[in-house]
Amino acid sequence: ERGGFAHFMLKEIFEQPQTLENTMRGRLILEEGFTKLGGLNLTKEELLAIDSVVITACGTSWHSALIGEMMIEELCRIPVEVEYASEYRYKNPIVTPNTLVIVISQSGETADTLAAMREAKRRGARTLGLVNVVGSTIAREDDGGIYLHAGPEIGVASTKAFTSQVVALALFTLKLARLRNLSVEQGRRIAQALAELPAQVQSIIERADEIEALAEQFKSAHNFLYLGRGYNFPTALEGALKLKEISYIHAEGYPAAEMKHGPIALIDDLMPVVVVAPHDAVFDKVTSNIQEVKARKGRVIAITTREEPALKGQLDYEFRIPETVDMLTPILASIPLQLLAYYIAVKRGCNVDQPRNLAKSVTVE
Ligand code: M6R
Repeated sequence: ERGGFAHFMLKEIFEQPQTLENTMRGRLILEEGFTKLGGLNLTKEELLAIDSVVITACGTSWHSALIGEMMIEELCRIPVEVEYASEYRYKNPIVTPNTLVIVISQSGETADTLAAMREAKRRGARTLGLVNVVGSTIAREDDGGIYLHAGPEIGVASTKAFTSQVVALALFTLKLARLRNLSVEQGRRIAQALAELPAQVQSIIERADEIEALAEQFKSAHNFLYLGRGYNFPTALEGALKLKEISYIHAEGYPAAEMKHGPIALIDDLMPVVVVAPHDAVFDKVTSNIQEVKARKGRVIAITTREEPALKGQLDYEFRIPETVDMLTPILASIPLQLLAYYIAVKRGCNVDQPRNLAKSVTVE
């Protein structure tokens, strides 16, 4: 069942080179920098008519929604709102016939997400489901969909479904952006970067032992802060959620610059601060946030992509990941964070696959 792995969660983390491959299979057209998505149920004209997007989900799927928001706004130039499914249905949402409501759910059975989708449909929106479980309720009731094809996810902590969701969002964004005004060169660059992901993820999981050693160092901490900016603010939220749910350590994810508006007060020499800092558009800004943490004696664990002189002496621990286009950095950066949460939880003797108080899918409101 677990294929020689101690837990489903570890197996599912290690499967990601394969699952990402499966999410992309038959969908990427490298030469044209375009994607083929057979289940959208939207004509080219209907796709071009979309003038606003709402993405709704819960938990980890809500984090991938935040990444999707940035992708769609950056490349398609269409306004996007991300809504917690549990809030969306009670807020009298604004929907027009040209609003596309994207619903993200690994299980396809989350009660709040399903109810949000039904509410959106009732108000006349078109719905698009990004779902992993084939034939699940959301997949049956949406107007169109993109299956994740990540295979069964058994561990309560979502890992491979998350990275597949981000890839599915990238595939959709690429298609819509190319239909609008993204150049073929830019499209090709993104398609190429997508195609390289599985091997890059493989190169990270081969170094899992480094993260295991890091976990040993930090397993007794009582609190963790996770910081990121831009595409990696949601990565920080996701890293913190993984740690909370399986190790029961209190953790918060924050946009790095927001720290000085409050949470910086928490930082002392006992506080591990995980900073997601790839060389992307906001790297210089993140560098100064790291210096702010260090000045308060926080212990900085950084996920980086390159050697950086400005960070010399500022990092207590550094884990390098391969470079990719900015919008895909959350996929690579989240792998070491999944592993960190996993190894810390195991070392604390926690039930990783079935954490207390949690169910794999939340089918009650
Ligand atoms: O099946 P769904 O994607 O709809 O589930 C949504 C959340 O319940 C889920 O992501 C939850 O937050 C996970 N336990 C996170 O690891």
